[in-house]
Amino acid sequence: MTKSLSRPRRIGVLTSGGDAPGMNAAVRAVVRKAVYEGLLVTGVMRGYAGLIDGDMRPLDERSVGDLIHRGGTFLQTARSERFKTPEGQAQARARLEEAGIEALVTIGGGGTFKGALALQDAGFPVVGVPGSIDNDIPETEYSIGFDTAVDTALDAIERLRDTAWAHSRVFLVEVMGRDTGFIALAAGLAGGAETVLIPEVPFDVGELCESILTSYRKGKRHSVIVVAEGAASAADLGRQVRERTGLDTRVTVLGHVQRGGRPTGFDRTLASQMGAAAVDLILQGKTGQMTAWRSGRVLAVPLREVVGRRKEIDLSLYELAKILAI
Ligand code: F6P
Repeated sequence: MTKSLSRPRRIGVLTSGGDAPGMNAAVRAVVRKAVYEGLLVTGVMRGYAGLIDGDMRPLDERSVGDLIHRGGTFLQTARSERFKTPEGQAQARARLEEAGIEALVTIGGGGTFKGALALQDAGFPVVGVPGSIDNDIPETEYSIGFDTAVDTALDAIERLRDTAWAHSRVFLVEVMGRDTGFIALAAGLAGGAETVLIPEVPFDVGELCESILTSYRKGKRHSVIVVAEGAASAADLGRQVRERTGLDTRVTVLGHVQRGGRPTGFDRTLASQMGAAAVDLILQGKTGQMTAWRSGRVLAVPLREVVGRRKEIDLSLYELAKILAI
């Protein structure tokens, strides 16, 4: 049973999993809203790994200055194997108690919330804030960092389109997204890609090559193919496209450039609203929840409805990208 939380004196905040632009803005919002409400705040370094090690520091309103526009996370982050074990979780709870932390805000993705739910189920109050460039967290339309990552991918796609056009080349651009196609679909649609490949929709290399050749026959002189990392390796696929079509083909893997950089205005706003909402939830005693964005509003959903579930992609956007690429 989670102990019923009277107004806590001190809360903790950590970032975990892959970093995402806007995490700093979320930490800033948690700290400043908490201070505004008269709470003390402890920052936990390196996610659950730092929690187990007791790597913590006090945070006040000044310690989160000049951060809202910075990518990365000043609390640093990690993916902790130790925290997946009952021993690691018990150690983490002991550290929280020693530090006088009575509730925790965890900012991250699916793995982060699995850990958060384990703490909550063991009786320690937690609220999650979704931060992941992949946007693969169920029950929220957006997670912090996705909008920025899509903009970064778009910037690259536009540069590659310039050179693809100049040389009449086929370009395959591999974007991140783990086993989902949210970044690929958003960047492909907005970037006017000729083809978008996502793991949610199986594809056939022969058909892909045929569609490229058909588009050339119809007058296109270049082709930009956005490949989600979970759909295929762009390097392997590029070799096959070159061999089968005989077209001049190049491959670019965007990789971790999508993880860094200045968060967009949308991500900063989302992070600010969600960070503050997380503190409100703690003050209302509504823990075991994740902040979620739906139709322009921040609300709360139970972590239990998020953990272990897969987020559905909007296939109508995939169809639209295909229609607009004729
Ligand atoms: O979850 C964010 C993400 O950037 C994924 O898109 C990608 O597959 C993965 O993390 C990369 O992880 P790492 O930074 O450990 O290489």
